[in-house]
Amino acid sequence: MSQADSATPTPAPTAPTTKDMKDIVALCKRRGFIFQASDIYDGINGFWDFGPLGTELKNNIRDLWWKAMVKCPPIGPDGNPVRIVGLDSAIIQNPKVWVASGHVSGFSDPMTDCRETKKRYRADHIYLLMLREGTIDINGKPARAFAFLQDATNDEVEKRLKKLNVPNKIIGDNNDISDVLVRTSLQNVPLNEIVAPDAKAPGSLTEPRAFNLLFETHAGAIQSEENKTYLRGETAQGIFINYKNIVDSSRVRIPFGIAQVGKAFRNEVNPRNFIFRSREFEQMEMEWFCHPDDADMWFDFWMEERKKWWLSIGVGGDDIIFRKHDVDELVFYSKKTFDVEYRFPFTAPDFGELEGIAYRADYDLTQHQKHSGTKMEYMDPDDNTKRYLPHVIEPAAGLTRGVLAVLCEAYTIDPNRPSGMYMNFHPNVAPIKAAILPLMAKDGQPEIAQKLYMELREDYMVELDIKQNIGKRYARQDEIGTPFCFTIDNDTASDNSVTVRHRNSMKQERIALDNVKNFMRENMAKMAR
Ligand code: GAP
Repeated sequence: MSQADSATPTPAPTAPTTKDMKDIVALCKRRGFIFQASDIYDGINGFWDFGPLGTELKNNIRDLWWKAMVKCPPIGPDGNPVRIVGLDSAIIQNPKVWVASGHVSGFSDPMTDCRETKKRYRADHIYLLMLREGTIDINGKPARAFAFLQDATNDEVEKRLKKLNVPNKIIGDNNDISDVLVRTSLQNVPLNEIVAPDAKAPGSLTEPRAFNLLFETHAGAIQSEENKTYLRGETAQGIFINYKNIVDSSRVRIPFGIAQVGKAFRNEVNPRNFIFRSREFEQMEMEWFCHPDDADMWFDFWMEERKKWWLSIGVGGDDIIFRKHDVDELVFYSKKTFDVEYRFPFTAPDFGELEGIAYRADYDLTQHQKHSGTKMEYMDPDDNTKRYLPHVIEPAAGLTRGVLAVLCEAYTIDPNRPSGMYMNFHPNVAPIKAAILPLMAKDGQPEIAQKLYMELREDYMVELDIKQNIGKRYARQDEIGTPFCFTIDNDTASDNSVTVRHRNSMKQERIALDNVKNFMRENMAKMAR
């Protein structure tokens, strides 16, 4: 979605007939889930603000991940409870961290600008197209073929590359496509003969230049090269550089994990698809340190656990797949990687990445040991002649993308409702768990509602809504995915009962006012199963 799209006023809702991204984006704005950042200044491309309900939804997903990882991690394949400790590392670290991790040299997409149309392209996208064409036709034929590049994600282009059977030697030894294309091919590309996408004349593309995805900043008053540092490009490096501190301070023994949730920043060339690819986003990463001989066992274990977790927040079924990376798709240090992918409305019938589960071996600890001079070897406490660098399994999930998957999965078309849809949030993640709605703002109903609200708010995120007619209030609760509505009416004062409306079935039943708390406890648990 472009910046301009998102800055236009939210259109009046019309009943949706299909699960369409533009309706989901409009709902997010209308109901206060997600807004374009700097909205009143026409936005800023690639940045998003989470409104009251979006914050609640995101925090619920984050807290469930933290619970599954740190507070109540699973029982391991050996029958012992696994141990994972938490971390909250700084966003800005010594820049040497990013040199050691390879981000400074490798985390870059070479870009070329079109002087005529003022558009910017990834140079390797242009090159890939030339590979497909075989030759360069200066009479405009490539220009038409280039059109798809404007919106292609890295994944899409890489898939295309595979379809084209580009030989491995072009992808290179370390499989870093961008890097290799710059080294091997772009200097041979006759840029002055290429008609850029949407351009009329050849030769409008500038020489490609490195476009590092790390955001640069300066620590200190003087903006010099010496003071240059970076906003973290992933939360994982904070974990690796604290590995030794944690081993020395926390009585952890191999195997164990370190988990971290937090912001990451990437100056994405082409942020797109709402919050799917943004420049500021949140990750939930866990690095699992184990003996190299046990790495395969733990890899399979974490794959299964991650599958269960996504299902536990309502993302499951046919819309989620675990895709094994082909050998030529793996980054050079990874022995195997699985992507957890979700069928987003904008990728359908294909899938988009939600999480990567990677076997990173000892790559990161080796790099930091080399660059920092600090020994990272683990000494076996039962046999202190045994020292080794642990291997790492990394389930690295996007929290921001998780929110998007949950929103897309929950969005359910239903022509029988006033809004034509409802949000079928799993009760674990639903931002509001129940609404209390007095039918009329008189006859003592608001007072009863207020009392019930005061009771329920002790345990649940609940809303008391007194305004508007009841149909509109139900419609709003459907749109924000509230599992239960309790309606107080004329009879409540005399018969001490309320009507419960179930979100998914819209069925209504009468229960005792005193029983509402029990009802919530039982039904939240039932729905969560
Ligand atoms: N430490 C490994 C790592 O960072 P990654 O595949 O680059 O791996 C992990 O990122 C997850 O972070 C992705 O699966 C995705 O969910 C999320 N992510 C990455 N880039 C993103 C972006 N620009 N916008 C939103 N989420 C992103």
